[in-house]
Amino acid sequence: MNFLYVMSSNKVYIFDTTLRDGEQVPGCQLNTIEKIEIAKALEELGVDVIEAGFPVSSPGDFQSVLEISKVVSKPTICALTRAVEGDIDAAAEALKFAKNKRIHTGIGVSDIHIKYKFNSTREDILQRAVKAVKYAKKFVDDVEFYGEDAGRADLEYLAQVVEAVIAAGATVVNIPDTSGYCLPDEFAQKITFLKQNVKNIDQAILAVHCHNDLGMATANTLAALRAGARQAEVTINGIGERAGNASLEEVVMALKVRKVVIGLDTDINTKKIYPTSRLVSRLMRMPVQPNKAIVGRNAFAHSSGIHQDGVLKHRENYELIDPQDVGILSNSIILTARSGRAALDYHIKRLGYNKTREELNEIYKEFLLLADKKKEIRDADLLFLLGQKTPNNTFELEILEVLSGSSVKPMAMVGLKIKGELSVAISDGNGPVDAAFKAIDKIIQKQVVLEEFLVQAITQGSDDVGKVHIQIIYKDQIYYGFGADTDIVAASVKAYLDALNKIND
Ligand code: KIV
Ligand code: ZN
Repeated sequence: MNFLYVMSSNKVYIFDTTLRDGEQVPGCQLNTIEKIEIAKALEELGVDVIEAGFPVSSPGDFQSVLEISKVVSKPTICALTRAVEGDIDAAAEALKFAKNKRIHTGIGVSDIHIKYKFNSTREDILQRAVKAVKYAKKFVDDVEFYGEDAGRADLEYLAQVVEAVIAAGATVVNIPDTSGYCLPDEFAQKITFLKQNVKNIDQAILAVHCHNDLGMATANTLAALRAGARQAEVTINGIGERAGNASLEEVVMALKVRKVVIGLDTDINTKKIYPTSRLVSRLMRMPVQPNKAIVGRNAFAHSSGIHQDGVLKHRENYELIDPQDVGILSNSIILTARSGRAALDYHIKRLGYNKTREELNEIYKEFLLLADKKKEIRDADLLFLLGQKTPNNTFELEILEVLSGSSVKPMAMVGLKIKGELSVAISDGNGPVDAAFKAIDKIIQKQVVLEEFLVQAITQGSDDVGKVHIQIIYKDQIYYGFGADTDIVAASVKAYLDALNKIND
């Protein structure tokens, strides 16, 4: 592999496209207020550029770019366009309040795009690219050009386009692997080729924008950065078209953890990564897969006995990253049936108890029996094992009646047994699950925030058992709940109560 290491500048510009490429995902659409909240979080996170939208695509996108430009001042605000004058006019107008602004214009440069998308020729596309950059330059100094599908483009032709758009005034040239086609060494070689063969290449920053269709978006981004690209286009949680984009948290943390080898830095405040990830997931209603690198629920959760023992002896035995560095306040040594004595002892000590080896052995036997019945052993269960308290099963479901349909307002009646006493509440809601949760909230009277709600069918039939995973936040602590039932409302209510029953106050 022939990487060209560029030692002159070690800074990698982080260009976040969560609000543009990420927001293109079906079901992830945000309103302007939600976009502003995310843009502010991205500013706090320390990104250099926020791609805030594609103004010509809809009035909502236009408005969001306009409003974000008013309230976010540190990062550059960028608006996407096609190589079309009307798009560029709309972008310039939407960016009029931005302190630092950029227009991101471009066109397809692979032969597939040239032939089947534009029914055109290489020469015509090159001219359109140059014309678009020159036109955008009339409105802003900072113009980024993207050669769509550059990952599959002819390299000599790509070099010609890059040279021409830089000569036309592009300050940043983006080489997207639009279809997620490239392999890391191949993609690095493309960057190396451009660095070596485009004579004005030093007059622009080379950017990369990698999609994850073959699961290589992060690897390709890192390979390109090592070959001399200096802007990484990424999204929070890796969301984006189809299989998504390179994820900000993975690229940033890989650069940080492997700094000695890669030698590049970003200005990201990594402690804000986890809160930003949660915010994006919540507002976009897009759960993060539990094993997602850096921000998944299990990314720092050690459940096997050997791993728990190792982490407790020395965190770095099994953890590359201190969870606190990405804003996760405690690493979750989760107690399950596979946990060993070391993990049990750790939690017992954390609860303020000191047990002898013999006592610990006795408790461990009881622990394994209980852990076989429950998925996770929480503090309340441990206190029970330690003989202090009965396990917290405060809320037991006695009654669940729901009314829903196309012509009625969804209603739910829920009855919970609390210390032997039945409490009943009725509520309406946006749907039957919402109504049932609201009825529960009326009974329990706790300030609980629903953080994640994930419904899965075990197979695909309509008669199937539905599984519901829930995360709630109560007094800054996350509680997880699970429920399963052939009735999806009942499964949801069970999951909610499972989480509530873990609260220990
Ligand atoms: O994937 C892609 O090529 C894009 C461009 C618009 C930059 O998203
Ligand atoms: Zn893209």
